[in-house]
Amino acid sequence: MSEKKRALFICLGNICRSPIAEAVFLKTIADDGVAEQWEVDSAAIGDWHVGNRPDHRALSTMEKHSLPYDNRARQITKADFDHYDYIFGMDKENMSHLKRMAPSGVSKAKQLLLGDFDTDAPGKIIRDPYYEQGANGFEQCYVQCVRCCNGFLAKVQRGEI
Ligand code: 4NP
Repeated sequence: MSEKKRALFICLGNICRSPIAEAVFLKTIADDGVAEQWEVDSAAIGDWHVGNRPDHRALSTMEKHSLPYDNRARQITKADFDHYDYIFGMDKENMSHLKRMAPSGVSKAKQLLLGDFDTDAPGKIIRDPYYEQGANGFEQCYVQCVRCCNGFLAKVQRGEI
C-alpha cells in the first residue's frame, strides 16, 4: 500500500477549533472508507494548553455530534512541516504564524486555510470561539469544519491537491 497522506489541523490553543476539525476529518475519512489511508493530528501555535483536553464546550459539541475524541493539546514543531502533507490554519493569524514558524527552505507541508475548502462559502475563516460566551461559536465551527473537510477530501480524491 502506498504511504499514508498526513493532515495536521492547527489553531492558536489546540483546545477549541483544531480538535473539532481533527475529529470532523477523522469522521469524514471514516465515512468515506479511507481512514486507513490517513494520519491525522492537531496542534497549537502557542504552548498555554499543552497536555490539556479540549475546552469543555468543544468536547460537548463533539459529543453532541457523536465525534469521539481522546487527544490532548500539543504545540506544533518544526518537524511537523516535513512530516505532514497538509497543515491547516483556521484564520489569517494562524496562517501568518505558520509562515513565520516554517523552517527556511522548502518543506513538504502545504500550508492551507481550512476555510478555503468550504463548499458553501470558500475563503471564510473559522472564528476563534474561546472568548465568546456559550457554545454557539463552537457549533458554528463544527458546521464549517464539516463542509470544509468534505470539500478538502473531494479535492484530494479528484487529484486537485
Ligand atoms: P483555539 O482557541 O485556538 O480555537 O484553541 C483558543 C484557545 C485558547 C486561547 C486562545 C484561543 N488562549 O489564549 O488561551
